[in-house]
Amino acid sequence: MEAFIAQGARWHNATPVVCEVAGKIVSCACIFHREVWVGSKKKRFGGIGAVATRPAARKKGFATLVMKQCEETLREQGCGVAILFCSIVEFYRRLGWTPVKEEWIEFVAPHFLKEREYRIEAVPLNKIPDAIRALSTASAQSAIVRSKGLWQEYSRWQREDADLFWAAYEGDKPVAYVRGRRGKNNAEEIRLMDAAADGAHHSALIVLLGKQCEIVKGKGSERFHGFVSAEHPLAKALSMAGIKPTWEAAASASGVMMYKGLQENIGKEFLSAGDFGKALPWQTRTWWAADRF
Ligand SMILES: CC(C)(COP(=O)(O)OP(=O)(O)OC[C@H]1O[C@@H](n2cnc3c(N)ncnc32)[C@H](O)[C@@H]1OP(=O)(O)O)[C@@H](O)C(=O)NCCC(=O)NCCS
Repeated sequence: MEAFIAQGARWHNATPVVCEVAGKIVSCACIFHREVWVGSKKKRFGGIGAVATRPAARKKGFATLVMKQCEETLREQGCGVAILFCSIVEFYRRLGWTPVKEEWIEFVAPHFLKEREYRIEAVPLNKIPDAIRALSTASAQSAIVRSKGLWQEYSRWQREDADLFWAAYEGDKPVAYVRGRRGKNNAEEIRLMDAAADGAHHSALIVLLGKQCEIVKGKGSERFHGFVSAEHPLAKALSMAGIKPTWEAAASASGVMMYKGLQENIGKEFLSAGDFGKALPWQTRTWWAADRF
């Protein structure tokens, strides 16, 4: 347990929950205390991750017990909802969890590379400037609130292509950024990992997507896709650029996001299960850090 905390739990405001039999841990999980932007307010919720039972102790109800304890602990702390990402939906559905319907966007970006109104620069993944972090926070598109520890994790666990992280500047101030990675099966496709824009500068996103196209293929007409809500400023930017995307509600084949309402009478500072039914501009895939280090 000490090793677990020393390895990272302490940076990430996490609480381990374990089930012991005769002094030996047989099953465990970890609670993460997270916040998400809802408009200009931060709301708290709990993430549950690292759920595992020793192979010899499986099917005896230990993980179910650990999950119940995690939920009870979050309830006592005032949380209205808990979130997790998983690939074993049925296991959690049985325990009262619901998959989140995310919005999936696809579009072909035809020849974005018009005159650039913004200065654009590559962002070094291993040294993300504070101003870019602040943009993610200030633009507050219902992305998860990234603590220092979470930013550290984004830099260390590289899930995106470093050369597709670009920011647009007005003077010295970053006003938008995009992050992405090439498709697994088609290196010319771009998966949008994250996009943020200062309210007045959503058109800068188009310029940045154009730059990603240029890097990936050089022709400036690539297919983009990603989990992005129709409420995201990107939607407005695409519409203004005359690009018609396809939107659909989708659940990912792996890494399904699930939620469970824990209680209804909660403080204003807590996210509620009901918030999932509202058309908030959530870019849910930025929540992946909800349940891990
Ligand atoms: C998933 C896991 C945590 C379950 O632990 P456990 O202590 O055996 O769970 P419980 O005894 O409380 O519940 C067992 C029930 O869950 C079901 N279950 C287990 N794995 C499942 C899966 N992959 N998909 C659907 N149901 C599953 C079992 O069939 C059993 O149902 P039954 O009682 O009707 O037979 C354990 O199998 C494990 O550690 N797996 C590897 C790590 C992992 O996948 N963790 C989840 C990460 S999101």
